[in-house]
Amino acid sequence: MDRKILLQEKDIPRQWYNLAADLPTPPLPPLGPGGKPISPEMLAPVFPMNIIEQEVSTQRWIPIPEEVLDMLYRWRPAPLRRAVYLERHLKTPARIYYKDESTSPPGSHKPNTAVPQAWYNKQFGIKRLTTETGAGQWGSALAFACKLIGLECKVFMVRISFDQKPFRKLMMQVWGANCVASPSNETNAGRKILAEMPDTPGSLGIAISEAIEQAVTDPKGQTRYSLGSVLNHVMLHQTIIGQEAKAQLKSINEKTPDVIIGCAGGGSNFAGLAFPFTADKINGAKIDIIPVEPTACPKMTKGPFVYDFGDTACTTPLLAMFSLGHAFVPAPIHAGGLRYHGMAPLVCQAIVEGLHTPRAIDQIECYKAAMTWAQTEGAICAPETSHAVAAAIQEANKAKEEGKEKVILFNYSGHGLMDLSGYDAYLSGKLSPYSLPDDEIRKAGETLKGFPPAAKNKSGKW
Ligand SMILES: Cc1ncc(COP(=O)(O)O)c(C=O)c1O
Repeated sequence: MDRKILLQEKDIPRQWYNLAADLPTPPLPPLGPGGKPISPEMLAPVFPMNIIEQEVSTQRWIPIPEEVLDMLYRWRPAPLRRAVYLERHLKTPARIYYKDESTSPPGSHKPNTAVPQAWYNKQFGIKRLTTETGAGQWGSALAFACKLIGLECKVFMVRISFDQKPFRKLMMQVWGANCVASPSNETNAGRKILAEMPDTPGSLGIAISEAIEQAVTDPKGQTRYSLGSVLNHVMLHQTIIGQEAKAQLKSINEKTPDVIIGCAGGGSNFAGLAFPFTADKINGAKIDIIPVEPTACPKMTKGPFVYDFGDTACTTPLLAMFSLGHAFVPAPIHAGGLRYHGMAPLVCQAIVEGLHTPRAIDQIECYKAAMTWAQTEGAICAPETSHAVAAAIQEANKAKEEGKEKVILFNYSGHGLMDLSGYDAYLSGKLSPYSLPDDEIRKAGETLKGFPPAAKNKSGKW
């Protein structure tokens, strides 16, 4: 039995996998002002055209440029590990595997897309990227990628995380980026929110508005915006994770997993692992594919499927997604990267189809799972990742009850070494269970009245 299943550099996947080519019913198109589907040109002030082409592509395989691979080799292929020590502790007949994305220099899966995004922008002649960050993982990943590639980087960091995670800000500075707390006084969107809610903990929706505003108002036209999740091209770049995992499982003659799990904020690490296996499910494999969210921000399990904006200031196109409403400001839980009101349209369409089955878990159960993980496997996981660990433990216990030798695979999206303040709050008893009350969900839904309806098109096969 191997605990570490490694691929050689020569076996790194050379193409990204695009689920849009295989979904039995295509996702609904993004809508622009007036409710009409947007054209690729309408995205041009925000993203470079080479990335927009990927965003709208329905081509199944998209080649990864050699120069991008050369940068990814710094940490890829990432290890697949077997969580034997956790298995023994749980006395489960299940075999638990996890893809260890915490080994990248910034500590998460995020550079898998930060590097290609920065590279495509540079190819297009862009000099500076702006972005938002929740937990700080994405901001530090983009800072790292921009430094490798030679672009300036500006990060709007959600206020609550900016205060909880000062070391993430320092990491961004080490990689040469400029990081400010959001809402900030630097943009119209930020100033408006500060005037209305001076003490707001901030949200990803607000930070996105600020980053987009700075990109599109650059008088020289040399700045673009970069998003760390949600959009199709981000899901695409992350599929290197699932493809590696497949090759690694095959190399030890392991069967196709029965259960696949990822935590989901905007959907990218989950999609990265799950989409290549979703293709197998579309072709007949029996796999439970589970995106996991916090009960504090339950868009997939409780939110309506609607057309909504991706940001608070309503600057993005309308996306068809499960959403708690663009104005929703989630409770300041420590899993900052899971505090987003919406979800990737590709993941949402897979949920509508019945290919993916979302689950919500409370923060206390997640921290308990993170503690069990640290005390068995050894590593300290990010608060976001703890949601995947908690679901893996639930599934391993279920396999024990059923007496089944299941194979469980989950994405270990990042380490928590910069997130110890959350562990501090948990260990000193300052955290309590929190589920978003139904009344709040109803109120959030009301802010979406009058938005175009999103049809739940599905083949009915799952
Ligand atoms: C470690 C980690 N996991 C998961 C996420 C959630 O993002 P996504 O759903 O795009 O993977 C984040 C986001 O910041 C993160 O930092």
